[in-house]
Parts: sequence; structure tokens; C-alpha cells
Amino acid sequence: MGKIIIFLGPPGAGKGTQSERLIKDYGFIQLSTGDILREAVKNGTELGKKAKQYMDAGQLVPDDIIIGIIKDKLDELKDENIIFDGFPRTIPQAEAFDEMLAKEGKEVDKVILFDVDDEEVVNRLSGRRIDPKTGKTYHIIYNPPPPEIEVIQRDDDKEDVIRKRLEVYHTQTKPLVDYYKKRGKLVVVNANNPPDDVYNQIKEVL
Ligand code: AP5
Repeated sequence: MGKIIIFLGPPGAGKGTQSERLIKDYGFIQLSTGDILREAVKNGTELGKKAKQYMDAGQLVPDDIIIGIIKDKLDELKDENIIFDGFPRTIPQAEAFDEMLAKEGKEVDKVILFDVDDEEVVNRLSGRRIDPKTGKTYHIIYNPPPPEIEVIQRDDDKEDVIRKRLEVYHTQTKPLVDYYKKRGKLVVVNANNPPDDVYNQIKEVL
């Protein structure tokens, strides 16, 4: 493994959007636990069947399942620079991750916290649409899809589920801010700003 970067932040903060740019411009690899789980749900695998009920309710999938996924993925990776998008999301996940990396003589390089207001999150996610063919993300107002593309909405982007996901973020994921601050890894970007500005802030950090 090369550099290990974590994208930490609430749903809708723009983690996926900024990952797309780093992949395209700098050849980063993105490892999104959300994408892995959605793929499993789509394919109807055992993992997908277990995960779906949690995801649709805006709850986190249990730690042991997530940690198992990451362990398998780490075995496959070589010398790439990797963005972990949406992992870790709880203190037990972060501790397990540190242990896995330590075994390889590695550690997390930087944790980028996407700082964004809750109401902005609700606006972004209720307007988010996805091209099911390419996985590319759009927003009906800020970044509308070309008319020839038939986009879809994620099941968990309904307003009541968005609000539940935000609540889960504040109670279960936010403690990671202190966890990584204490370890000297945390960098904060203002993610309320437009995508180009957020990207410039990230490039300065990396
Ligand atoms: P996951 O897929 O990880 O979702 P999330 O963290 O809730 O993040 P999102 O993908 O919703 O948001 P994003 O920050 O990537 O925003 P985006 O760039 O798309 O997780 C889904 C579920 O899986 C979880 O609820 C849980 O059940 C489960 N799960 C996943 N990982 C787990 C784990 N580790 N442990 C346990 N459970 C786990 O942007 C959003 C919208 O805003 C887009 O429309 C975009 O175009 C627009 N936008 C982006 N940036 C800007 C900007 N700067 N200005 C204006 N608009 C913008």
C-alpha cells in the first residue's frame, strides 16, 4: 500500500464527488464501503441480504461485517495510494483498522474531515441522482445530468432516511474526529463550499 487517506464526514458531504476527482487526476484508488455494500445488495449476495435492512433504515451495518470486508480488500491491494471513503465509521472500526495496518508496518497518513452543515446535507442528498451505468453522481440543481441519461435515486436518499443517517453520524461516527485529532492525523476542509473550492483545499493537504 502507498498512502492511506481517510475521507471522514457526514453523508452528502461530497466524499464521493472528491474521490472521483482524485482518481481521475492522480490515479488514487477509492475504497468505499457504501459502494461495496450497494453492489452486494444489487447482486443479492449473502452480504447484500444482511446489509440491506440496515442501509434502508439509515443505520450502520454491524462492525464485524465491515471489518471483514476491509480485511479481504487489504489483502488484494498492492502499492496504490488509497482513499477510504466512508470507513472507518465507528471507534471499533478505527481500532481494528489501526491493528490491521500495524501488522503490515503501516499507518493512516491523513484523515480529511469534510465539515458541512446538516441542512446543506439534506439539500444535497434529496437532489442527488446517479447514472446507474457509470456510477457518476449528479445533483438536480447544482450539477444536472445531461437529458439523455436516465438517472436513479438511492433508496436511502429519501428525506426521513437522510435525517436518520445524519443522527447516526453525529452519535456513532463523530467520535472519530477526536480519535484522529489525538493521533495528529486530522485535517479539516470546509465542505460547504462549491466542489472546485473543496478540491483545492484537499490538493493543498495532499
Ligand atoms: P455511504 O455510501 O458511505 O454513504 P454516506 O457516507 O452516507 O455518503 P454519501 O455517499 O451519501 O455522500 P458523499 O459524501 O459521498 O456525497 P456525494 O459526493 O455523493 O453509506 C451508505 C450506507 O452504507 C450507510 O448508511 C450504512 O448503512 C452503510 N455503510 C457504509 N459504510 C459503512 C461502515 N464503514 N460501517 C457501517 N455501515 C456502513 O455528494 C452528495 C450530493 O451533493 C451529490 O448530488 C453531489 O453532486 C452534491 N455535491 C457534492 N459536493 C458538493 C458541493 N461542494 N457543493 C454542492 N453540491 C455538492
